[in-house]
Amino acid sequence: MLKRIHPGIIALLIQIVTILLICLIVVLQTTIELSLFEWSLLQGLAAGLLSYALRMPVWWMPIHLGFIPLIVVALALNISSTVCLVLFLGLWLIYGKTYKTQVPLYLSSNRVTQVLQSLLPESNRFSFVDLGSGCGGLLSHLAQKNRNGVFYGIEAAPLPFLISKLRSLFGAKNCAITWGDFWQQDFSQYDVVYAYLSPVPMTALWEKASKEMRPGSLLISNTFIIPGVAADKSIQLDDFSNSALYLWKI
Ligand SMILES: C[S@@+](CC[C@H](N)C(=O)[O-])C[C@H]1O[C@@H](n2cnc3c(N)ncnc32)[C@H](O)[C@@H]1O
Repeated sequence: MLKRIHPGIIALLIQIVTILLICLIVVLQTTIELSLFEWSLLQGLAAGLLSYALRMPVWWMPIHLGFIPLIVVALALNISSTVCLVLFLGLWLIYGKTYKTQVPLYLSSNRVTQVLQSLLPESNRFSFVDLGSGCGGLLSHLAQKNRNGVFYGIEAAPLPFLISKLRSLFGAKNCAITWGDFWQQDFSQYDVVYAYLSPVPMTALWEKASKEMRPGSLLISNTFIIPGVAADKSIQLDDFSNSALYLWKI
């Protein structure tokens, strides 16, 4: 049943339950005397353990552990409300849609750019799309090095889109970035579809790719496999996360 509830809602409930629990302990007993920060650490620990017990993905643990303690630290530092607002807006413009997409922003390494470049045709014309193109770094490098290709990026988050748009305006002319949802795109127009997403959309991505992509075109996923669909080839990357590129020839 938990699987049907959005992980953001479960996380919120975990925080509420553990905050109430710690408040109850503070109010109902007088023997343990801790500072506000120490109580917040206990709450973080309880939230982290509960998240583990409810089998949330492991990366939720540090978020739960640090969430309330960091708020307490921020309040103690007396950071101005304008700075907080600017930080909040900045994060919202980058990560605001993650609640829906479940794909946060993190960037492909330089090693990925090198390997992708070695996979692209040297002289034949081709089209390449980066699904969720982030700040456009990968595309602008590839577009500069491969003038025989046309590169497209689709990005949903406003701030990364703006950065990548500016980059493409001043960069190579064979690169176009649009703001939008890649699920609304028709994949049949591309020879190479590149995705660096998260485990969540991979099954749906395969369904869409196998329906729409042309025979002979290439689907490449950075790091994330497609459950139950063996890749035709995988290339181990010697980068900071020691990840791999997975290739499916359609
Ligand atoms: C892991 S980042 C990868 C960024 C870039 N492709 C790279 O490799 O450096 C994934 C990006 O996909 C974007 N994204 C997630 N779902 C999307 C969707 N449905 N449509 C467009 N962009 C999306 C996110 O906002 C995020 O910037």
